[in-house]
Amino acid sequence: MPAIVIVGAQWGDEGKGKATDQLGARVDHVVKFNGGNNAGHTVVIDGEKYALHLLPSGILTPGVTPIIANGVVVDLAVLFEEIEALEARGVDTSKLKVSANAHVIPSYNTTLDKVSERFLGKRKIGTTGRGIGPSYADKMNRAGIRVQDLFDESILRQKVEAALVLKNELLVKTYNRRAVEADEVVTELRSYVDRLRPMVVDSGLEIARALDAGETVLFEAGQATMLDVDHGTYPFVTSSSCVAAGASTGSGMAPGRIDRVVGIFKAYTTRVGEGPFPTELLDETGDALREAGFEFGTTTGRPRRCGWADALVGRYATRVNGLTDMVLTKLDTLTGFETLRVATGYRVPAAKASGLGDGRREGEWVYFDEMPMSQSDFHHAEPVYEDHAGWTEDITGCRAFDELPQAAQDYVLRLEELVGTRISVIGVGPGREQSIVRHELAPGR
Ligand code: GDP
Ligand code: IMO
Ligand code: MG
Repeated sequence: MPAIVIVGAQWGDEGKGKATDQLGARVDHVVKFNGGNNAGHTVVIDGEKYALHLLPSGILTPGVTPIIANGVVVDLAVLFEEIEALEARGVDTSKLKVSANAHVIPSYNTTLDKVSERFLGKRKIGTTGRGIGPSYADKMNRAGIRVQDLFDESILRQKVEAALVLKNELLVKTYNRRAVEADEVVTELRSYVDRLRPMVVDSGLEIARALDAGETVLFEAGQATMLDVDHGTYPFVTSSSCVAAGASTGSGMAPGRIDRVVGIFKAYTTRVGEGPFPTELLDETGDALREAGFEFGTTTGRPRRCGWADALVGRYATRVNGLTDMVLTKLDTLTGFETLRVATGYRVPAAKASGLGDGRREGEWVYFDEMPMSQSDFHHAEPVYEDHAGWTEDITGCRAFDELPQAAQDYVLRLEELVGTRISVIGVGPGREQSIVRHELAPGR
């Protein structure tokens, strides 16, 4: 079972970093295939906390080869900062590889991300301000700068000069910022060339060779299904392919080679940034979830919006990604809540419903059992809940399913039934060892 993809099954921050780290000892390569340093993964090993943004979480396991593949956008300053910070803590980063086809995030795109959000005011996306959107836009617009371009100074200069014609128009005329000189961009990017050279690879070739040799390759998504540029809550999404299919386009691995797709699903829901979120709780219960789960962004420190679990989102993630397994994280956070609610459907006031898709009209409401196709319906969706009894026992020490209180077992089994994917691992704390494994996700090395 050599190619395993890990994806976020909600709006991000489900605990993908911990899941990846836990599989580290069972895999040979960990590939990051989308996003950039907008991601924030917190991994706790022996009580030590590591916050990773650009580097794949697999870097924390000795012996693993981490690969930043072509689908990633790379802020080179951040890349070397993270490498240095990890090296200073004794983590060996010497095996890290970076695809020649990955795009870089020039500093003008970080500036543009921030100023355009400010310009949008109330209509902002709530981005992380890391230059992600403008860099993917450049890629699609065929105006991006790739890692390999850095190694040919005259090509690099041509590309930067071409890009700056439009960028400077925008910066100066729309956003009232200073123009950027091609020289400063070229000089900055070229300053990384010597350190970068030994890392640069063709990620598709590396991965194919590893799989041919029977090695296990883990693909670690940043962001999540509902933030995917095609399948998420557009336009309140990130700009990359965060779903399982992205592992293929984002790395050069043929799609038929994927053996297992693991969705990471938090026992409740969180979201950072703007956009619709039907089960959001804007009351004390939402605050209590935020406090119990320490729901503050790893990247921007923003408080995360919190709400109950949404089975429609889980079912949608199951279908879009072809999930074979789920990791249910942070079950321990729900300890002490008297009643737990799970959305099993949505309803939209008939007067506001779009008429698109297969909603059922019943009186004044249109009911949905699957993700509505219309973004307007999703914006107006109210959750239809079923309620579950909570538990009060501390579960952070449980290591087997039958050690969980009956109410916790019932909650997990009902979620499993509703989302349609077996829950193979249950997280009961942030530590590497704080998990209940019902089915192994990867063979031993
Ligand atoms: P990612 O972006 O999907 O990797 O997730 P983040 O790292 O942004 O957020 C998940 C947070 O939950 C991190 O602080 C983890 O240490 C923590 N975490 C992961 N799994 C569990 C769990 O089962 N229980 C608890 N209490 N914390 C967890
Ligand atoms: P991980 O990998 C949660 C959100 C931002 C914003 C939107 C677009 O830690 O799960 P961007 O900077 O990507 O253009 O922002 O996407 N977002 C995330 N939310 N977890 C993440 O990553 C995210 N990466 C981006 O908050 O709403
Ligand atoms: Mg995160």
